[in-house]
Amino acid sequence: MKGGIAIAIAVPLAMLAGTAFMLWWRRNQNEYAPPRPVLGTTSPPQSLDNVPSSASTSGNPAPAQQGLGALPTIQRASPPDRRAARKRGLLPPEAVITFAEERKAAAIDEVFAALERELVGLVPVKKQVEEIGSLLLVDRARQRFGLMAPRPNLHMCFTGAPGTGKTTVGLLMASLLHQLGYLEQGHLVHAMRNDLVGEYIGQTAPKTRRVIDRAMGGVLFIDEASALYQPDNNKDFGLEAIEILLQVMENERDKFVVILAGYKDRMDVFFESNPGMRSRVAHHLDFADYDVDELIAIGRVMLERSNYYLSEEAEAAFREYLIHRMSQPLFANARSVRNELERARLRHAHRLAADQHRSWGRDDLMRIEAADILSRRAVAVPAGD
Ligand SMILES: Nc1ncnc2c1ncn2[C@@H]1O[C@H](COP(=O)(O)OP(=O)(O)O)[C@@H](O)[C@H]1O
Ligand SMILES: [Mg+2]
Repeated sequence: MKGGIAIAIAVPLAMLAGTAFMLWWRRNQNEYAPPRPVLGTTSPPQSLDNVPSSASTSGNPAPAQQGLGALPTIQRASPPDRRAARKRGLLPPEAVITFAEERKAAAIDEVFAALERELVGLVPVKKQVEEIGSLLLVDRARQRFGLMAPRPNLHMCFTGAPGTGKTTVGLLMASLLHQLGYLEQGHLVHAMRNDLVGEYIGQTAPKTRRVIDRAMGGVLFIDEASALYQPDNNKDFGLEAIEILLQVMENERDKFVVILAGYKDRMDVFFESNPGMRSRVAHHLDFADYDVDELIAIGRVMLERSNYYLSEEAEAAFREYLIHRMSQPLFANARSVRNELERARLRHAHRLAADQHRSWGRDDLMRIEAADILSRRAVAVPAGD
């Protein structure tokens, strides 16, 4: 009898203890989980060259882009090195520093290496990213000597056609600002007009604020930002979103960075009508269209990353294909390169797999042939590409 009571008490107690242990364990797991990845953003769709990230999905963290031309990966210094900077303490006035050491302390060389490694051309853009890096390195160094100044304005505008590398550089910029201690988390939240602007009265403010809240500590990347302002539409709530952004960009500029992206001409018109926005954007980076040699070099980088290469004939065919595609509407620079190479990969696979009894070696599995590139005459490109 006594034994029965003891069991009746002991079993639920053991179960309770087990549950408590599980809860404790899971909480600790979360607390010590590694920092969220840099690419905590909706990634652009793979199939359509001209359609940027879907607005409706930007609320969910999406997996990093995959496939050929995947977005850059950066080795982060961990833990973020704010504490290390504090530990280094104030320097006496007679001290000296070198920027090699400062760069090392911020572990930003890997970001610049990724910029070089991942991106073909874009020389003026890379130079401006270096300049922004220098501005912040010097600002940090000044702080170490106790030379206080307001934090530099870091809101930016990236202009250029689709597929010219704006999102990619946005991600690298987020990493750079994080490494230098100017962003707490360094993630990037991608948003378009639909993510910020509601259809009915009362929807816009909470929508915009939700997106801004998600971007705190990171970069808010507003794609096709000029679409926020629609002067012809008198029921437009875009202005409400712009007003909120203006306020937050000023009042909370120490907590996040806004990057407005879009075509150059449209952004020029946008700034003309929104001088407040123009005055809040400190850095304008212009992404030029790529020429055919750059596009081929970009293709080569993308293929190399995936252990493919173009045969000599395939490269000639690819050049011919690109020259033709470049003159067509909806051409999307490096994104069109990526998409055509994805299709070439498919044709290559089909060509090999279809010949079931033939022997194929390692090199065959890597080499894209001219037959795998769409011939110029057959360029009836899929819709939207
Ligand atoms: N200069 C470049 N070198 C290598 N790849 C590039 C370059 N520019 C763009 N890409 C690749 O092309 C694709 C589209 O670039 P993305 O940054 O999304 O362009 P955008 O945001 O301007 O539309 C991505 O896969 C990106 O990595
Ligand atoms: Mg983009």
